[in-house]
Amino acid sequence: MISNKQILILGLLVILATCWVYGEPEPRRRSKVPKIFNGSEEGNIHTSNSREGKVFSLFNIVQFNNEGCRSSSTISSSGSGSTNRNGTCFTMNECVSKGGSAAGSCAAGFGVCCVFLVSTSGATVTQNCSYVRNSNFPSPLDSTSQISYNIQKCDQSVCSLRLDFETFSIQGTGNTEEIDTDVMPLDPGGVCLDTFSVQVSTGQKIPTICGQNTGQHMYVDIGNLASDTAQLNFAFIGSSNNRQWEIKVTQIPCNTPGHPNGNGCLQYHTGLTGRLTTFNFLPTNDNHLANQDYSVCIRQEAGFCCIEYSVCSDANSFSIDTNMMLMMSKVETECLTIDYITIEGGQGSCAGSNNPTAGVNKYCGDKLNPLTMQIEHAPVCDCTAPFRVDIFTDNDVDVMDMATPNTKPSRGVCLEYRQIPC
Ligand SMILES: *[C@@H]1O[C@H](CO)[C@@H](O)[C@H](O)[C@H]1NC(C)=O
Ligand SMILES: *[C@@H]1O[C@H](CO)[C@@H](O)[C@H](O)[C@H]1NC(C)=O
Repeated sequence: MISNKQILILGLLVILATCWVYGEPEPRRRSKVPKIFNGSEEGNIHTSNSREGKVFSLFNIVQFNNEGCRSSSTISSSGSGSTNRNGTCFTMNECVSKGGSAAGSCAAGFGVCCVFLVSTSGATVTQNCSYVRNSNFPSPLDSTSQISYNIQKCDQSVCSLRLDFETFSIQGTGNTEEIDTDVMPLDPGGVCLDTFSVQVSTGQKIPTICGQNTGQHMYVDIGNLASDTAQLNFAFIGSSNNRQWEIKVTQIPCNTPGHPNGNGCLQYHTGLTGRLTTFNFLPTNDNHLANQDYSVCIRQEAGFCCIEYSVCSDANSFSIDTNMMLMMSKVETECLTIDYITIEGGQGSCAGSNNPTAGVNKYCGDKLNPLTMQIEHAPVCDCTAPFRVDIFTDNDVDVMDMATPNTKPSRGVCLEYRQIPC
């Protein structure tokens, strides 16, 4: 079978022969390889005649955009690395010279889906859609040394990064409420053992996280200068056979629709329904994290005026600072000195903006309810766009006082949201 590339080379040879026969000057050298086109013309593939005239019609320059593609294979030997990866469409030569792995074809066979994997600590990520993962991934890594990756812009148009935690497992707080019987300050509460942190020079508040965060994501404002970089840092305490990560790093040009674009949202959800959870919510027996201060945003969809949040059905889906004796929803001021979430404009029902059951903005304890002193969860509605939930936790363990350990779970927050039409 003759591939497209072979046809191209064949065409080239015919032209060269024709030129020789007719004594024409040799065509430009760069035409001998497919030229990669990075512009904004319509469609992905472009073929153009090198000259006017039928004689040279076989001689085409093939151009295609370096667009995203899905790899044909998983590029992982075994285990949890079972999904295909996102890559970028390049020629085989470009892929090899940029240090990528070719996995499948794209651009009608003229390109390869080139996937970039980075494992070595201290390595610099230069390609869009790179996967940063532990060495030996998908096997876990037992290392106690710090590991960091440096992210450079793949293009100066980039303003932010989206980190997708495709796999994320490091030690969490090591705190279950049952064993949480130490007296402060010996007990670190929701303080991380291992840590993952992101360093940027933009001043964005990015919480340090740990534990189980597969499926979570973060938006990082990297800055407007071409030379701006970001660092991803892992630090570990003690031995553990549970450390495993694969983080997809997507580089987002400034003002790309469908992304927060530097408006202060660490997480950004789109769609009419969805679920948001605090970091390290996945394990049922570890605490929510201390020292968190960030915003989770939901894009308001056209024709939808309100958003309703309700507590997920999973166990302890609203347990954020459970140190109060009464198992009731709290007065707003009670939340202010401890851990809480903020839903600015929260009210009791999505029936209208002048709703009589206007509630509170801050929620804590173990009942989410727009009314105080309630013993059941109730949905909270917000008709004041932009739609946003702020997460705030202090650095204290969730105990009543130093002498009384907390026996209630403090798993964190899981909310289902649904947008309500106008
Ligand atoms: C990086 O890849 C994503 C996904 O393919 C794309 O949307 C984005 O525009 C790319 N970034 C740059 C700077 O080209
Ligand atoms: C990139 O990966 C996501 C899933 O992680 C997928 O939904 C998306 O279609 C991929 N992009 C491309 C261009 O294949």
